[in-house]
Amino acid sequence: MTLTKILVIGGAGNLGSLILKHLEASGSQFQVTVLTRKSTSSSSSSSTNTFPKSVKIHQIADDYPEAELVAAFTGQDAVISAISMTGMHLQYRFIDAAVTAKVVRYFPTEFGLDELPDWLVELRPMFRIKHDVRDYLVSKEKDGLSWTAIVCNVFFEMGVMSGFFNFHWDQKRVVLVDGGEVQWVATTLDTVGLAVVRALEREDQSRNRLLLVQDFRTSQKEIWDRVKAKTGGEDNGWTVEHVKYDEWLEEAKNTVRGGDNSALGRLTFGTVLLGSQWEERKEFGNTLLDLPTKSFDEAIESVLKDVS
Ligand SMILES: NC(=O)c1ccc[n+]([C@@H]2O[C@H](COP(=O)([O-])OP(=O)(O)OC[C@H]3O[C@@H](n4cnc5c(N)ncnc54)[C@H](OP(=O)(O)O)[C@@H]3O)[C@@H](O)[C@H]2O)c1
Repeated sequence: MTLTKILVIGGAGNLGSLILKHLEASGSQFQVTVLTRKSTSSSSSSSTNTFPKSVKIHQIADDYPEAELVAAFTGQDAVISAISMTGMHLQYRFIDAAVTAKVVRYFPTEFGLDELPDWLVELRPMFRIKHDVRDYLVSKEKDGLSWTAIVCNVFFEMGVMSGFFNFHWDQKRVVLVDGGEVQWVATTLDTVGLAVVRALEREDQSRNRLLLVQDFRTSQKEIWDRVKAKTGGEDNGWTVEHVKYDEWLEEAKNTVRGGDNSALGRLTFGTVLLGSQWEERKEFGNTLLDLPTKSFDEAIESVLKDVS
């Protein structure tokens, strides 16, 4: 294995922290550096104690100047970007710096949806960056930079608890779209973090590839059945609202077109609700990465363990 010196951008984040956990746990003797902004507000970035002890911390000016990036990347074999959505546009600079610093492998900030409908890109242009960065990486292959893009559809735990899957915990309200029957791919953060490490360990098989990874497929209905069992559902104050996909989505589009961004999440979940099935796709990465997956039961029990 030649990818051993690894730099992670966004190592204190929701996903970055799991990538660090699996790098530390892998037994592959990675030498890990985290790149963190000087005035970070991430609690774990500002306290070196909360990163794994073996991790080196490299601070950078908040606007990630290219010269500082090149200095940070020099000597690294791989750069993993787990930067937040709001920093995604900076990746062109990360990639240019990676080429200059002769980094071997770049993992873009993907970790989400694969296919993007035109209306999502129109109304939430930030998503376009993910696909443009894929193209930009392909254009840099000739300069010696290889890449691996890990795509996982939705983060399961965050989707259940944040309201993204339409479970509004503060109001004890669930909005089921078309009966909640549509099935989509879901992945736990733990599995995404492990997938990144497995891709580093299998550097030849993962070179210049987009890899679709997943734990299971699920639906709003399947999740609601478990939430209901755990919380008492309608007998305990929950309300269930039924909506039709087309009307629900159209309303969200009009809200965003009217300048109100509060419906952006609904557009993203509307994309998820187009449904997904990845096992037969040539990009399906679970086998290539020998990825141990979590079952729906295991994942939902863990998410709902503190819920009553
Ligand atoms: N599939 C899904 O359901 C799903 C859900 C959420 C996120 N994602 C994807 O996962 C990736 C990582 O997301 P995340 O939620 O793990 O990120 P996050 O926790 O919001 O942020 C990760 C790190 O980005 C750095 N950062 C740089 N510029 C920033 C800025 N302007 N504002 C905030 N943070 C900034 C921070 O590191 P320092 O403070 O150390 O500099 C922060 O800790 C993204 O690609 C995102 O699209 C997918």
